[in-house]
Amino acid sequence: MPATRPGVRGAVITGWGTALPDTVLTNADLEKQMDTSDAWIRERTGIHQRHVGGSTASLSTASGRAALEMSGVDPADMDALVLATTTPDRAVPATASTVQHELGLACGAFDVNAACSGWVYALVNAHGLIAMGADKVLVIGTDTLDRITDYTDRNTGILFGNGSGAVVLEAVDGPGQLLSWDLDSVGEAESALFCEIGGVLQMEGREVFRRAVRIMVDSATKSMRHAGVTADDIALVIPHQANTRIIAAALERLGIEYERSSIVLDTTGNTSSASVPLALAAALDAGRVDAGDLILFVGFGAGMTAASSIIRWSPDAVEARP
Ligand code: COA
Repeated sequence: MPATRPGVRGAVITGWGTALPDTVLTNADLEKQMDTSDAWIRERTGIHQRHVGGSTASLSTASGRAALEMSGVDPADMDALVLATTTPDRAVPATASTVQHELGLACGAFDVNAACSGWVYALVNAHGLIAMGADKVLVIGTDTLDRITDYTDRNTGILFGNGSGAVVLEAVDGPGQLLSWDLDSVGEAESALFCEIGGVLQMEGREVFRRAVRIMVDSATKSMRHAGVTADDIALVIPHQANTRIIAAALERLGIEYERSSIVLDTTGNTSSASVPLALAAALDAGRVDAGDLILFVGFGAGMTAASSIIRWSPDAVEARP
């Protein structure tokens, strides 16, 4: 799978934004609803609380608007909106259409469902649109998992929450940020984590854990190989935020210290498509990223899907945009 081909029109991230619903569901709240404890959840997952409420469209509109404002791009100039979500508000139309209208965009808009790998899938798709001539693409990842989670089931209810993250991608003359990417799916493992239409999430926790570590390592290794870089070259990993023990195990196998990752799941829980852009925004807002740094995105999720990509953070390239 691919390294970005020489000569392909590239892009850089010029704005980002996030949105979390106001309502917080703490581990202490869950103790009242199921047979669990705050101590167990913290130790086995790293999660302290998660946010619930809101709709996929409203959260997407909020994070998308913040990203647009930071980038300074006129909404009317946006060429496409790609919305990663596993929890669209309706079966039809795509939630992206609602968000497009709310944000005043005049462009194509579509949803991408690759479960918790969704935002990385969307980011890669957006780069493809830019390679084919789009100038500006809004890439949002949003999930409202409270609508498909049973918060009385201790097997799943401790993990999931709602949130949204967005970036504006703008084309540049010459190579952009994206060095390499990898998208995977192992359909035979779909029974490990699924939700029927109208149902709630069903999960074999240990099986998902075992596979998650393996496919994260596999995908990240492929992206590093395609980019011609090693684990030592990676300044920051933005992993899917499912469980700190999964992240720690994968990073150990990759030879990357845990301190070189961005973690938000303690306050957000697993927000599926939103988790990677939320962790990216947290790292950027905290000033953890310098020009030239290599960032490794790596996600995994139901499907079971995996996705990774490596970008070289290059805000200066904005000066060269067409
Ligand atoms: N609270 C308290 N105790 C719990 C519990 C809970 N919420 N869930 C399970 N337990 C108990 C079990 O009954 C078991 O008790 P026993 O030893 O007396 O039999 C013990 O804790 C260990 O259970 P186990 O299922 O092995 O826990 P675990 O360490 O595998 O943790 C998960 C469970 C779900 C946190 C973990 O498997 C996981 O994170 N899996 C991946 C899930 C995921 O990331 N899904 C999304 C992918 S995008």
